[in-house]
Amino acid sequence: MRLSRLAGLACAGLVVPLLATAQLAGSSRAAEPPAPPVAPCTSSSAHPWCDTSLSPDARALLFQKAMTLDEEIALLGGQGAANNGATGGHTGVSVAVPRLGLPEVYFTDGPVGVRQGKATAMPVPIALAATWDAASAYEYGRTIGEEARAKGNDVVLGPTVNLARTPQNGRGYEAYGEETQLIAQTGVAWIKGAQSTGVIADVKHFALNNQEGQFGVPPLFALNGSRHIVNAEVDDRTLHELYLPHFEAAVKQGDVGTVMCSYNRINGEWACQNAKMLQTILEEQWGFKGFVVADYGASKDTVRNLNNGLDFVPAQGSIDQAYSPVAIGYAVASGRVKRSVVDGHVRRILRTLFAFGYFDRLPFLNDDTQIDNDADRATAQRIEERAITLLKNNGILPLKPSVKKIAVIGPYAKTFITGGGSGGVSPTRVVTALEAITARAGSDVTVTYTDGASQTKAAAMAAAADVAIVITGDVQTEGQDKSCIGLSCTSDFLNSNSVLIGRGKLCLLAPCPLNGINQDAMVGRIASAQPNTVAVLETGGPVLTPWRDKVAGLVQAWYPGQEGGSAIARVLFGDVDPGGRLPVTFPANADQGSTAHDPDRYPGADHSEGLLVGYRWYDAKGQSPAYEFGAGLSYTTFSYGPVQVQAGGVAGAASTATVEITNTGSRAGYAVPQVYLSKPSSAAFPQPVRQLVSSKSVSIEPGRTVRVSFPLSDRSFASWDTSLGTAGGWRTLPGCYTVTVGKSSRELLTSRTVARGATCPDASVSLGSGTDFFLPLAPPATVVSVD
Ligand code: BGC
Repeated sequence: MRLSRLAGLACAGLVVPLLATAQLAGSSRAAEPPAPPVAPCTSSSAHPWCDTSLSPDARALLFQKAMTLDEEIALLGGQGAANNGATGGHTGVSVAVPRLGLPEVYFTDGPVGVRQGKATAMPVPIALAATWDAASAYEYGRTIGEEARAKGNDVVLGPTVNLARTPQNGRGYEAYGEETQLIAQTGVAWIKGAQSTGVIADVKHFALNNQEGQFGVPPLFALNGSRHIVNAEVDDRTLHELYLPHFEAAVKQGDVGTVMCSYNRINGEWACQNAKMLQTILEEQWGFKGFVVADYGASKDTVRNLNNGLDFVPAQGSIDQAYSPVAIGYAVASGRVKRSVVDGHVRRILRTLFAFGYFDRLPFLNDDTQIDNDADRATAQRIEERAITLLKNNGILPLKPSVKKIAVIGPYAKTFITGGGSGGVSPTRVVTALEAITARAGSDVTVTYTDGASQTKAAAMAAAADVAIVITGDVQTEGQDKSCIGLSCTSDFLNSNSVLIGRGKLCLLAPCPLNGINQDAMVGRIASAQPNTVAVLETGGPVLTPWRDKVAGLVQAWYPGQEGGSAIARVLFGDVDPGGRLPVTFPANADQGSTAHDPDRYPGADHSEGLLVGYRWYDAKGQSPAYEFGAGLSYTTFSYGPVQVQAGGVAGAASTATVEITNTGSRAGYAVPQVYLSKPSSAAFPQPVRQLVSSKSVSIEPGRTVRVSFPLSDRSFASWDTSLGTAGGWRTLPGCYTVTVGKSSRELLTSRTVARGATCPDASVSLGSGTDFFLPLAPPATVVSVD
């Protein structure tokens, strides 16, 4: 029979039963003999909180009133991970209250796929962001939600939405890039998809967990700028305009059930005890009614955590003691935490469970046979096809039927590559690029392979072929940032002769996939030997591409997921159009970008660049990146008509920008029109050169024209004005705004002026000062066919 920590509590008072906790760490719903499933509130239940005509708040209050203080305290600290990760266990388990019929609640990572046993390894989230497609994000979240549910979980610890501030971030792969609007659109759709399955999502890491830190004292963990100690200093305007809108959208527009507070400090106070972040902003200003979960080990101070807004510590007893029954009991008994504060946290957890139907449905059974593997594999492949971003093409792609000999080169052509840490997923199968290219090429094409360890051999093989495809990758992992912005950062603890497998395991046994290969040198050498060289990058984010002028084609495939090989082959052969556009800027060299050569900014985290992160920095400083934010090519061509801007539009729109796009080529392809807004800038209130306010990915048939309408809300035009009251607020500053539609942040095609509370020459629309600042995401763009 499974040990219950509650039973331990009953006989040991408030003493933490470490033995029981340790044994529970090995427990899993899978290990139990099958019990007849029953909902916590069965139809015959006499409990007053089982009355479904009552609101979740009322039901939570009734339940909480029935609990003893010990039961309430026990609910705030979870049992930690059960057989963490690939061995099959949940990432977290709460403590049950059997006396009142509340079973355990099960949690799993994560944002890239379920980190529990084997699961569908999706293309990584940065790839999802590269689709610029909310429908793909919904499908992605739904797929992970369904697999999490089929593995007996009630909560999935994703999505990760932290903003890409430095290209060295070890977790860049796990999030959605450098643009707040794109992150918000992707995150909201992900959450809606995941929560449509009945599972509760968890948006993380709140907030400013923008780096992992540089490797410090071996073999512990990164200390220099580590997420565990770093203090993210940020001014209020930057906080509200850049680092919070995607969390705000997750709460207000995604209706996310839980929020995970992060390890780092924000302006001096730890995120999980930061009253301004958790109480003033999250609860009071945004109206968040779910519960706040601490990252694993991120709670530091029982009293401050309890008093300042942290509801739940999932890894209680293993790596975190802040919400141990002893600690909470003492805090209450000593009067430093009021009983009502504990009641409030308990009610937030219960209210969320009631709101998500947890009490009224059968428990989710942990049984992988419920998973439709074929459907999920197809989804993973489809999203990767849409995510692949074509950065350079001198006409070599799609590969022509005349190509009869292909040299495939590089270690990652034969290896599954993904990010390390809690975003790691053990795939249900892997289709490598080499396998898929060989299969797609067919029997009349010869495909040769070498890993590139011998550059001489690789160059000779490339020269002897019609086309060389060089597949390279990098190493990104939670817990440590990259030491360079390159493919092979040889000083990285986890790189060089090692590779990450699953949750941060090292490849210590030769031959390791990278095997000491200097990938940049390898690509350069091969491109010199074979002019028809296509470089394929399987990276978690931006890397330097010093050989880019030499190659004929450059394909960014990201960490492509378990079906990635098939998607790469289909794009290379032109079966599908590459739909991706960059959600992050690719620097031309290591001197570019807001954090380059400034140790106070990085690995220090003073955020003194303010709003000038990502493309905003490049635009403000006039830097020319290798590939700009929003860049990506199609196999077809598009022409754009002039943008029109009108007042009003759908509900919530202050104005609507409309553009017609024609596919002028001979095959179907994805156009991704991007709408940028330039706000009136002054010395007193400076603005970035332009910022994304809306976008749409749309497939257009050859010869056809579509009209895309982009509603812009008052919030699209607004800035966070710290002079408005003590807390600051959103407002549209009077002046002339320029709405520009482009194919990227640098390929800008057509503009119009919008006047707001001012007289502007050539203004198409004149609007007042604006009042509706509630929702961070403007209504979605719509597409109609016009021919
Ligand atoms: C990560 C979280 C993750 C947790 C549980 C932490 O190290 O930061 O994102 O959910 O571990 O695995």
